Amino acid sequence: MTDLIEQARAILRGNDRGGYTVPTHRLYPFQWNWDSAFVAMGWATFDEARGFTEVERLLEGQWDDGLVPQIVFHAPSDDYFPGPAVWGVDHTPPTSGITQPPVLASAVRHMLERSQDRAAAEARVAAIYPRLVAYHRWWPRARDPNGSGLVSTMHPWETGMDNSPAWDAALARVPATTITAVQRRDTTHVDATMRPRAEEYQRFIHLVDLFRDVHWQPEKMLAASPFRVADIGTNSILLRAERDLSVLAQRFGQMGDGGEIAARSERMQSAIEKLWDTQLGLFHSLDLIADSPIGVATSGGLLPLYADVANASRAAAMTAMLRRWAGQVRYLVPSTAPNDPRFDALRYWRGPVWAVVNWMIAEGAARAGQPGLAADLRSGTRDMIANGGFSEYFDPRDGGGIGGEDFSWTAAIYLLLG
Ligand code: GLC
Repeated sequence: MTDLIEQARAILRGNDRGGYTVPTHRLYPFQWNWDSAFVAMGWATFDEARGFTEVERLLEGQWDDGLVPQIVFHAPSDDYFPGPAVWGVDHTPPTSGITQPPVLASAVRHMLERSQDRAAAEARVAAIYPRLVAYHRWWPRARDPNGSGLVSTMHPWETGMDNSPAWDAALARVPATTITAVQRRDTTHVDATMRPRAEEYQRFIHLVDLFRDVHWQPEKMLAASPFRVADIGTNSILLRAERDLSVLAQRFGQMGDGGEIAARSERMQSAIEKLWDTQLGLFHSLDLIADSPIGVATSGGLLPLYADVANASRAAAMTAMLRRWAGQVRYLVPSTAPNDPRFDALRYWRGPVWAVVNWMIAEGAARAGQPGLAADLRSGTRDMIANGGFSEYFDPRDGGGIGGEDFSWTAAIYLLLG
């Protein structure tokens, strides 16, 4: 075993808080939804049972209506803002009130199919499966009641790509909070130039105030929110997860589950296909309040590859575009196109490279007939981690590690890359 694999395992063990893994110590002291899906797969490379435990502990936060929250606050901590009191959610354990990109069902299928102890894995999945079904039913019911085929995202934090320039115009319509005193903790742990700006934080918290006031009821949130987008990343990840859930349904489902999932998937597939953007050379998100496409090229716009939505010519066009980006930055995939005026190599989702996004794009590229791109993304990600450490994200110009250190999902991706 190489030193780096040993280090990656040590990071997961060090961030383990008893069956769940914090993204990193101090900066993110709770359990995060999509982080945990990747982290579960990472654990499963050397401890299959622990991989399933990660998922089960996340599902302790699942609401009665099916929502799997963005954050589960298993134990109190002063290191993070906003904590449970600001969210005002009535749940034990306490949780935030929004969700995150639903990688969960995909992670469960991934772990099951690779399990050595198949009987043990099947028993765990049998118990988890109905919870996944409830989550997947929640999405269209709460976030696409009109059946458009695209789910709405109500908060930039739900996209997992918090301060992407794709959300700038939509977020500009959100006023600053006047109710909650913003007490940021993140900038005491990480350099402020690498984090979202103060005015963005004020608006993030206004949305939380608004949703708390309507007691987190989906139909009221949809009606009240000044921020509503159809995020290409979330929709692609959900469609991938539907496809993976349908495989689980064949083994663990009730009669009818398969048909229900297929109907949802077909609707999503045709809605996502319409988001192809010839000008950008990738897919775009929609601003559902302005009723307009969001013309910013981001790494999220490549995730339809991961959902198997891109046909051969679109996959080739995206590969060609990434090759052009590679002429401008040393490491792929920058979170924002390097030729975009909003590109910022250091500031969170406005430029830096994220290992989890690379992994998803590589998975999709391999299936879409672009094995060269997949191999380059995988080896580039490995190099970046080898040189820049298990950082939260990386500077695309030189691969330098930035943001938080000893990051769980970066360690998990290293383990998945093998
Ligand atoms: C930040 C990221 C989000 C991630 C979380 C924990 O909020 O934007 O994607 O889930 O940190 O790592």
